[in-house]
Amino acid sequence: MILVTGGAGFIGANFVLDWLSRGGEPVVNVDKLTYAGNASTLAPLSGDARHIFARVDICEAAALATLFTTHRPRAVVNFAAESHVDRSIRAPGEFVQTNVVGTFTLLEAARTYWSGLDAGEKAAFRFVHVSTDEVFGSLEPDDAPFNEHTPYAPNSPYSASKAASDHFVRAYHHTYGLPTLTTNCSNNYGPYQFPEKLIPLAITRALKGEKLPVYGDGKNVRDWLYVTDHCAAIRTVLERGVVGRTYNIGGWNEKANIDVVHTICGVLDELRPAASGARYARQIEFVTDRPGHDRRYAIDASLIEQELGWRPSETFETGIRKTVAWYLDHAEWVGGVTSGSYREWLDTHYAGSN
Ligand code: NAD
Ligand code: DAU
Repeated sequence: MILVTGGAGFIGANFVLDWLSRGGEPVVNVDKLTYAGNASTLAPLSGDARHIFARVDICEAAALATLFTTHRPRAVVNFAAESHVDRSIRAPGEFVQTNVVGTFTLLEAARTYWSGLDAGEKAAFRFVHVSTDEVFGSLEPDDAPFNEHTPYAPNSPYSASKAASDHFVRAYHHTYGLPTLTTNCSNNYGPYQFPEKLIPLAITRALKGEKLPVYGDGKNVRDWLYVTDHCAAIRTVLERGVVGRTYNIGGWNEKANIDVVHTICGVLDELRPAASGARYARQIEFVTDRPGHDRRYAIDASLIEQELGWRPSETFETGIRKTVAWYLDHAEWVGGVTSGSYREWLDTHYAGSN
C-alpha cells in the first residue's frame, strides 16, 4: 500500500491512474477535494478495490493518524497543495495553511507511524515530497538552469509556501532520520489539468471564441514537461532515489509563453478549425502582467538522469499535440470541472477580457 495525497488533482490523479495501470500496489488517496480536486478524474477507478479514496484535509492530524494505522503504507507521495500562483497573490492564507501547515502535519503523522515500525520496515519506508522549480526564483536569459545546489529564492506566496514545506521535509530527515526525498519539477502540462493554468486555459478559451490572455510581453520562459514523464520520474525517485536527496526534474523544453500560445493555436487550427475560418491566434490579447512575475525558469535535470536513469520521453511538439487532442475529446470533463466558483475566478481575475 502507498499513501498519495492530492491524488484528485492534476499530477496526483495522473500518478495514481498510471501507478495502478502498471500493476502498482493499492493506493490510499487522501484529498480534500478543493476546487482543484475532481472526483470525476478518478472515475476510471470506480469499483477498483486497489483504490481507496479518503476525503481528508492534510491539516487534520487525527484523520491522518487513523489512515496510517489502518492502511500501514510503505510510502507516502505528497502532491497535496494549493498550486496556482495567481490565486496565491490574491489570497495567500490558504497556501500557508495547506502547503506549510498541511505538509508539517503530514510529516508529523508519518514520523509517528514510522517510529513504530520494525527496523526493516523503517529502512524501507519512503516519504516523497513533490515540489517545484519556483522555489529557486527567477533566471536571467543567460543564467545556467537551476540545479540541486541553486539557493532558494522564492518570489510569490505560492513559491514561498512550497519552499517552507521543502525545508520542513529536509529538517525531518536531518533531525529525525525520516527517509525523505524531495523533487523540484518544472511546469507540467497534459490531460486533466484544471483550466486555470496557461495551457488548458488557452485551449478551452480558444474553443469558446474568447480572448487568450498573455501576461506582460509574453516573453516569460517556462520549462515544460509532459505530466506522465513527471509521474515516471516520481516513480523512479520513489524506487531508486537516495534518501535525503533532492532531485530536479524538467523537460529540457524552454519556451516563451507567447510561443506556447501560438503553438496551441496552430494545433487547434489543424485539428478543429474555427467555423468562421479565422485563425485562433487572432484571439491572443496581451494583458496586465502578474505582479512579481518570474522571468525565466529552467531545470538542469542531469542528476536524475545520471544517477537514476530517468529522462523525459515526450518532446514539447508531441506532448502538446496529445494535450490539445485530449481536451478536444474530453469536453465533458472540462464542463464538469468548470463550476460556479471557476466562473467567479475568471470573472474576477480576467475582468475586462472576454
Ligand atoms: P492541483 O492544484 O491540480 O491539485 C492539488 C490537489 O491537492 C487537489 O486535488 C486538491 O483537492 C488537493 N488539496 C489541496 N489542499 C488540500 C488539503 N489541505 N488536503 C488534502 N488535499 C488537498 O495541483 P497539481 O498541479 O496537480 O500539483 C501537484 C503538486 O505538484 C503540488 O504540490 C505542486 O506544488 C507540485 N508541482 C506542480 C507543477 C505543475 O506544473 N502543475 C509543477 C511542479 C510541482
Ligand atoms: O514551475 C512549476 C510551476 O508551474 C508549478 O509549481 C505551479 O504549481 C504551476 O501552476 C506552474 O506555475 P506557473 O505560474 O508557471 O503556471 P501558469 O500556468 O499559471 O503560468 C504559466 C506562464 O503563463 C506564466 O509565465 C504566467 C503565464 N500566464 C498564465 C496565465 C494563467 C499568462 O500569460 N496568462 C494567463 O492567463
